[in-house]
Amino acid sequence: MSLPAEIVEQAMRLRDAINRHNHQYHSLDSPIISDAEFDQLFRELKSLEAQYPELVTDDSPTQRVGATPLSAFSQIQHEMPMLSLENAFSEADLEDFERRIKARLGTVDTLEFVCEPKIDGVAVSLLYVDGQLVRGATRGDGATGEDITQNVRTIESIPLRLQGQGWPDRLEVRGEIYIAKSTFLAINAEAQARGEKLFANPRNAAAGSLRQLDSRLTAKRKLTMYCYSVGLVEGGDLPPTQAGILQQLQDWGLRVNPLVEVVKGAAMCRTYYEKMLTRRAELNYEIDGVVFKVNSMSLQQRLGILTRTPRWAIAHKFPAEEGYTRLVDVEFQVGRTGAITPVARLEPVKIGGVTISNATLHNMDEVGRLGLMIGDRVLVQRAGDVIPKVVAVDRSQRPLHARSITMPDHCPACGAEIILVEGEVIARCSGGLFCSAQRKESIRHFASRLALDIEGLGTKLVSQLVDEGLIENPADLYSLTESKLLGLERMAPKSANNLLEALEKSKLTTMARFIYALGISEVGESTARNLALFFGDIDALRAANNELLQAVPDVGPIVAEKILTFFHQQNNQKVIDELLAAGIHWQAETSSVDAAALTGQSWVLTGTLKILTRNEAKAKLQSLGAKVSGSVSKNTSCVVAGDAAGSKLAKALELGVPVLDETALLEMLAKHGIQGS
Ligand code: IVH
Repeated sequence: MSLPAEIVEQAMRLRDAINRHNHQYHSLDSPIISDAEFDQLFRELKSLEAQYPELVTDDSPTQRVGATPLSAFSQIQHEMPMLSLENAFSEADLEDFERRIKARLGTVDTLEFVCEPKIDGVAVSLLYVDGQLVRGATRGDGATGEDITQNVRTIESIPLRLQGQGWPDRLEVRGEIYIAKSTFLAINAEAQARGEKLFANPRNAAAGSLRQLDSRLTAKRKLTMYCYSVGLVEGGDLPPTQAGILQQLQDWGLRVNPLVEVVKGAAMCRTYYEKMLTRRAELNYEIDGVVFKVNSMSLQQRLGILTRTPRWAIAHKFPAEEGYTRLVDVEFQVGRTGAITPVARLEPVKIGGVTISNATLHNMDEVGRLGLMIGDRVLVQRAGDVIPKVVAVDRSQRPLHARSITMPDHCPACGAEIILVEGEVIARCSGGLFCSAQRKESIRHFASRLALDIEGLGTKLVSQLVDEGLIENPADLYSLTESKLLGLERMAPKSANNLLEALEKSKLTTMARFIYALGISEVGESTARNLALFFGDIDALRAANNELLQAVPDVGPIVAEKILTFFHQQNNQKVIDELLAAGIHWQAETSSVDAAALTGQSWVLTGTLKILTRNEAKAKLQSLGAKVSGSVSKNTSCVVAGDAAGSKLAKALELGVPVLDETALLEMLAKHGIQGS
C-alpha cells in the first residue's frame, strides 16, 4: 500500500520545520518558537510516524537515539588524514610563522588570517553523502579512527540532513565535539550524588561520553560540536576562503563558533589571542588556545602540509591550566567551624605561569573517589584564581612505596577528638573555641575583605596574637592597644598604629558584612545580605525562630538550623554584645524597593500579626503600590491573616481570594526589597 501523498508531504514539512528550529536553537542560539511549540511539532511527527511506520526515514529527527548498544566500535580509515597543528607559545613564534609563509609564497603583502578559538574537546569527522549524515568518526591517530556514528547521531546540534542546497555529493566536515562547562559540572554533581567516579575535566567527560557503546547514554550527556574545517569534498565546490567555508557550513545547518574573526597580519592575530585569553573564563566551554589559518584556500593549497601539520595554520596555546606532579604528603587543616580538610603537599609544578605546591583535596570522600595515595603522580588543575585542586591520579605511575591516606583521630591543632557525623562527609574537630586553629580561622574570617575588611590583619598576625594570648575572639581585637601590640615580635610602632587605625575604621560597617563576619556555618555573603535586608536589625535576627528564618529568601531548613545553633550559644551572644559595645555600628539597610510591584492590587489585613504592627504592614504594602482596604470582596487581591483571624478570612476562603500568613507576607516584602521590621 503506498502512502497518501499529503501524509508524506506533511511528514516532510514537519521534519523540515523541526530541523530548522533545531538549528535555530542549538547552532544559532536564537530560537524563534517556544520549547512547548517545538515539542508539539515533535509529537505530531512521532504520532504520524507511529501511524505510518513506512514513513520513518533514517534522517528523521525522531531517529537520533538507537535502541541497540554496540558490542565494540569498528575502525575506519580516514580518506584524508586528520592533521594536527603546530604550536606557537609566544609572539616571536607567531611572527616566525608569518615570515615563513611569506617567504614560501614569495610575497610581502599582508596576509589575511582566520582566527578561531581552539576548543578543548574531541576532534571528529562527519561524512555527509547527498546531504545525509552517514558516518561519524573520531580522529584516532589521524589515519585510523573509530566509527561513532550511533553516538554522533544523538547530538542535536549535528544535522542528520544538511539544510538548504548546493552541498557536494560527498562532504566531510571536521570539528570538535565538547561538553559545556555547566553541563560538565552538572554531570559530575550527579555522579557525586551516586557515589560514582568523577570526570577530571570537560574534555574527559566528552571523550567518555562519545565512547559509550550504548548511544542512549551518549544522548543523556548533552554533547555539542563546533565545526572548523572540511576534509574530503567530492562532486561540488566550496567557497574559496576558510571564512567563506565556515559561513557555508553554518548555512547548511552546522554549528560554527560565533567568535571566529578575519584579521590582517600576525600583529592582529596577537590581539585576537589577547582578547580570547581575557574572555576564556567567561566562555561556557574550555579553550586551550586559538588557531590562526591562512584565509585563502588557494594559498593554503600552495603552502601545503609538512608531514602531519599544515604550513598554513598554527595553534597559539594558552598557558596550561593543568599539570602533572607528585603528591608528597597530605596534611590536615582545621577550618573556622572545625572542618578538617585534607591538603595536598605537592612537588612544586608550574601551571599557567604560577608555581603550585599545595592543592585542596576537599574531604576524605574525595580522596577515596580519586583513589589517591601519597607518592602518586597526580593531575592538578588551576583555573584563573581559583584554589588549585587535584583532579585525577595516574595509577600507572604509582610507586611501590605509595602510602594510603588516613584521617587522624585527633585534631592536629588542639588534640581534641575528630568527629565524623553520620551522613556528613566533613569530619570536624570537637575542640570548639578551645581549639586554637578554629579560633584563628574565625578571627581571620572576621577580618577578611568581604567581612569587616581589617587591613593588615593577615593570617600570620592573627596567629601571633592568638599564640601570645592577646586575643581569643574577634571582640578582643578591639581591646588591643599600642603597648600590647609592641610586645609582639617584629612589630614596629608604625605597623601597630596602622593596625589600630584599621580596627577603628572597621567599626563602621554594614549589617550584612557584620552577619557574614560572624562566620555562621552555611551563611555566606549573599545569605548574610538577605538576612540583613529581611530583619533590618540585629536583635530581630538574634531573636528569630526557625519558621521566621525560613521566610528569608534562600534560607532553607538546614541553614535556619545552623543560624539557630549559632545564636543559642551563650559564648557567641557574648561576643556579639562585646562587639556592639566596642562601637561596631552600621546604617540601616537600604535596597531598591520595587515601588510598583503591587500597583492596582487591593489587600486586606486581618487577625493579630506578631512581628509587624498592623500599621507597619499597611505602610509596607502601600510602599509597593497596593491599596489596603478593610473589607474582603471578589476584587480583593490578597488577604493577610494573622492569629485569630475570623470572618474576613472565612470570606476570603469562600471567594477563593489568596491568603498569606505573616511569614509569607514578610517573604513577599523581602523579595521586593522591603525589610521586615
Ligand atoms: S584545525 C589542519 N581548528 O586542535 C587543521 N583544530 O592540535 C587541523 N582544534 O586535532 C585542525 N579547535 O582537535 C582546528 N578551530 C580549530 C580547532 C582545532 C580545536 C583541535 C583539533 C585538532 C587539534 C590540533
